[in-house]
Parts: sequence; structure tokens; C-alpha cells
Amino acid sequence: MLQTDSIESLREHVAIWRAAGARIGFVPTMGNLHAGHVQLIEVARTHCERVVASIFVNPLQFGPNEDFTRYPRTPEADCAALESAGADLVFMPSVATMYPQPLEQLTRVSVPQLGDILEGAHRPGHFDGVTTVVARLFNLVQPDVAVFGEKDWQQLAIIRRMVDDLGWPIDIVGVPTVRDADGLALSSRNAYLTAAQRAMAPSLARTLNEVAGHLRVGERDFAALERAATLVLAEDGLRADYVSIRRPDLREPHLGDAQLIILAAAWLGSTRLIDNLPVSLG
Ligand code: PAJ
Repeated sequence: MLQTDSIESLREHVAIWRAAGARIGFVPTMGNLHAGHVQLIEVARTHCERVVASIFVNPLQFGPNEDFTRYPRTPEADCAALESAGADLVFMPSVATMYPQPLEQLTRVSVPQLGDILEGAHRPGHFDGVTTVVARLFNLVQPDVAVFGEKDWQQLAIIRRMVDDLGWPIDIVGVPTVRDADGLALSSRNAYLTAAQRAMAPSLARTLNEVAGHLRVGERDFAALERAATLVLAEDGLRADYVSIRRPDLREPHLGDAQLIILAAAWLGSTRLIDNLPVSLG
């Protein structure tokens, strides 16, 4: 597997592969890779002959009081994981390479409304940071296919909207959330949890499953279900930012909808966890 921090070298290798007729798959990450990220690489492999991954802890998508400086950075273990998952190249740029301008002068890409609800309402500017970095990465790599996790359902929806709105010829593929045996969605931020908090954390996935159970038996008072789930989380020691039942495209749900998604974000001490669960109703 090739490793580079240079745009020129990235472009050179991708150009050679493309000239040989390969389809190029791309998996952007912030590193500290776990089995969820590995799954994305494996899915990219099934679509493409060549797979590029990136590792870049993107300062633009962290708020001023968020965990940018302490976000776990494990490049050596990450490269080993990417290589054994079948990546051909990992792009690990510096901040100066990714952002040649001072950040306040940088061109931004923004998806309004969809970027302002749910996560966006609690993390102002977060999704503008995500779309700006992913837009630049897409232009550097020029992939045929890019693979994202459903774990970040809203992020996936926003990337799809950006690619549609800007007319980029990139297929966006979503991959179901990879979980630990007790249901907790894998996340780099799980490393912040103490042993006691880790034991409490499965409450988030469990509560989403309970809401899904209520929906499946026909309950449709969405607001009441959201309030009840917030209380269950509180009893289990998690402080919810939101529990929200939506349509898969994140619009408000209607009574007859056959597909819904339950999304939640909750604090466990100073760690913020997010999760979601798609539900099909008969
Ligand atoms: P990061 O949190 O490193 O996640 C990289 C990719 O892995 C995202 O598409 C995310 O949805 C996916 N992922 C994370 N946990 C997963 C799990 N348990 N199961 C399946 N997929 C999972 O998301 C980002 O980085 C950044 O916002 C990024 C898109 C790289 C832009 O900076």
C-alpha cells in the first residue's frame, strides 16, 4: 500500500490507475480506525479495482470547545489496518496541504437547512466543515465511488445532496453501522469512555431499538415516543441532545410512512455519542 502526504503523488498514482482502466473507490476518514472503517474499505473494494483512503483530522469540522486537539491519532496502526483491508493508497495530508489559505479566507461548501438541523443545530458549522473537506478531497482524488457509514446518517444525506447539487459524477455508497456485540456503534470517540461509562453506553442503541418496537406495533405519537426515549436515556445516565424520528431523508415523518429513521445524540459524561436506527414498517 502506498502512503503519501502529497497531492502531486496522490494525483500521479490515481492517473496511472485510471489510464489502466481501473475504477477508483474512495473512503475518507479521520483515522483511529476500527472495524466500521475497515468495512467501508471492503465495500469500496467490491465496487472498484483501486481503493484510496484518506486520514485527516479536519480542524474545520470541530467547534471551538470540541475535541480537535485530543482526537485520537494512531497513524501506524491505521496504515496496517488499511493495508490488510485492501486499500491501495492512503493520503495523509497536513493541515497546510489541505488548506492553503488561512481558514478565514478559505472557500467553503455549505448545504443549507439539511446541515442546520439535528447534529447541525447542536454543532454549528460542523457540516460546513465536513462538506468543505469532502469537496476538496473529492476534487483531489476524483473517485468514481465514495463510501460512507450510515452511522453518520445525516452526514451521508448531506454528502449525497452536495454531490447532486454540484453535479459531480461520483456514486455515493452507504454502509450499515458496525456495532460491538452489546449493540454500541463503533466510534473513535468510544475510546474516551471510562470502563463504567462503557458499561452504560449500550443504552443508546437499546433505547433506539425500543422506540423501533413501539413504531412496529403501530404507535405513531412521534413526539411522545421521543420524550419517553429521552427519559429512558436519562434514567440510564445519558443526557440526550435529541431523540428524533424522521423520514430517511430527514424530513418530518408522516403517519403513513413505511420507512422511518430514529436518530439520537447523547452525552455520557463529557463524551458525546450518536447513533441511529432505520425502521421498515409493514
Ligand atoms: P470518521 O468519523 O473517521 O468516519 C469515517 C467514515 O467511517 C464515515 O463515513 C463514518 O460514517 C464511517 N463510520 C464510523 N463509524 C462507523 C461504524 N460503526 N460503522 C460503519 N461506518 C462507520 O466521518 C468522518 O470521519 C469525517 O466527518 C469525514 C467524512 C472523514 C470528513 O472529515
